[in-house]
Amino acid sequence: MPPPVWLMRQAGRYLPEYREIRSHAGTFLDLCYAPDLAIEATLQPVRRFSLDAAIVFSDILLVPHALGQEVSFSEGKGPKLAALKQSGDLKGLVLEDVATKLRPVYEAIKQLHRELAPEIALIGFAGAPWTLAAYMIEGKTSRHFSKAQNWAKAEPQSFSKLIDVLVEAVSGHLIRQVEAGADVVQIFDSWAGVLSPEAFERWVVQPTRAIVGKVKEAVPGTPVIGFPRGVDVLYKDYAEASGVDGVSIDTQVSPAWAAAELQDKVCVQGNLDPEALVEGGKRMRDATAQILEALGSGPFVFNLGHGVVPQTPPEHVSELLETIRGAV
Ligand code: CP3
Repeated sequence: MPPPVWLMRQAGRYLPEYREIRSHAGTFLDLCYAPDLAIEATLQPVRRFSLDAAIVFSDILLVPHALGQEVSFSEGKGPKLAALKQSGDLKGLVLEDVATKLRPVYEAIKQLHRELAPEIALIGFAGAPWTLAAYMIEGKTSRHFSKAQNWAKAEPQSFSKLIDVLVEAVSGHLIRQVEAGADVVQIFDSWAGVLSPEAFERWVVQPTRAIVGKVKEAVPGTPVIGFPRGVDVLYKDYAEASGVDGVSIDTQVSPAWAAAELQDKVCVQGNLDPEALVEGGKRMRDATAQILEALGSGPFVFNLGHGVVPQTPPEHVSELLETIRGAV
């Protein structure tokens, strides 16, 4: 049996039909908060390709936005946030408003749950507290997120308060997505890889464990996938200690290592290089075969090691799916 397959960022700018709705939607946030458009963006890749899952079209930065932080996206420059500068700024974050402000996401999920064929899994998601805190303090994307790292080191007590607020906001957001009809949730910790092992344990593993505990308490049996991108051998600690059921691995992890060290603990998801999908052809087929060879006999979900990039030719996604399903 071929493994189930979906792709991180399977909706987005590489699809002409996405660029079409994006051009009428106003800002990127307007698109995320309009259930009809978010539903359409979610369904576009599912209609075009025979994927095994749909991931609700949204963004991890909706949670900081719903907490009251200013967030905007400018074309080609990525996200911009009104950076938190000192502990006093945490007072501006209002947990009580999050559920109401994110209602359009739950509305989209409810309708998607009704519309999607039952064999297609519906995935909800959120950013992990560390990655969200990193954007909230830095105000934009960054190579090392040193402002956030320095805050965590210099003032662990106030940083911990921020993480606690995010644990509450994120677990509530995930629980409401599952209640609305999501079958699985994924926690994106895209910047886990910049932390020291000690900081990783405190700001990634512990908060993730708290979130997983809350989700499973509220909706028992919900599968949770974690993606602590870039953490190398610490993936093993994460698989052992965070409580997640599945771990998404990035392109730096060798599939054979993941098979030996992770697959007896969790379902592994990954990890084709998005650049191999851009290139297509032999490079893509060889890399896919290698991943299937190493991971295909254990609990496994085929995915990329990071999101689909805008330069990806859509035909290469069809070719990838044929390769995966023809190989087994
Ligand atoms: O996977 C899917 O199809 C669902 C959609 C999805 C988006 N963002 C849509 C999006 C998901 C799962 C995300 C997660 C996300 N957002 C992450 C975690 C995964 C990762 O990439 O590490 C992060 C760090 C963000 C924050 C974010 N949002 C950034 C850094 C950017 C700008 C970079 C870029 O590609 O433009 C965004 C914008 C964004 N989120 C776009 C999309 C389709 C592009 C904006 C547009 O279409 O104008």
